[in-house]
Amino acid sequence: MTPSEGLLVRRIREGTVIDHIPAGRALAVLRILGITGREGLRVAVVMNVESRRLGRKDIVKVEGRHLSSEEVNRIALIAPSATINIVKDYRVIEKKRVELPELIEGIITCTNPTCITRKPGEPLKPRFKLLSRRPLRLQCTYCGTIIDEEDVLEQLEEASEE
Ligand code: CTP
Ligand code: ZN
Repeated sequence: MTPSEGLLVRRIREGTVIDHIPAGRALAVLRILGITGREGLRVAVVMNVESRRLGRKDIVKVEGRHLSSEEVNRIALIAPSATINIVKDYRVIEKKRVELPELIEGIITCTNPTCITRKPGEPLKPRFKLLSRRPLRLQCTYCGTIIDEEDVLEQLEEASEE
């Protein structure tokens, strides 16, 4: 725990700590996990603290919630540097890196307004093929539109303004 983080939030007893998130992206990570604050979970969001590896970083701590591997991997869309720490009895019992799968379903919308996945009344789950991790490039498997990291971040930010 870095000294500046320690000043802000204590260690958690049980749950998940998502560490090494690029500075400024903690809220987008919560968005990816579908955590709104209305679930009643205790959540700590730490932003722009010092990190030896990243200069500055964000941290998200969620008490009493464990993440599925699908959720963990989706975090890689916007935070490929993230570390997932599983905490039990105040101890980190497992540390995982995130890894983006070859196919990404749901979450992101195709930017092509005429894409079949955006047809009203005919819900078809958006699906993207991973073309490149860094820089992030995804291709809609239905219409071939290519979207990048900027598009993904923009969508997550828009969604949080609702
Ligand atoms: N953490 C926490 N509550 C705990 C244990 C750990 O909130 N009971 C947090 C720490 O504050 C840190 C992260 O989980 O943000 C990882 O903890 P730890 O592995 O102890 O830290 P480092 O060794 O610094 O991790 P790394 O090597 O991944 O940087
Ligand atoms: Zn499409």
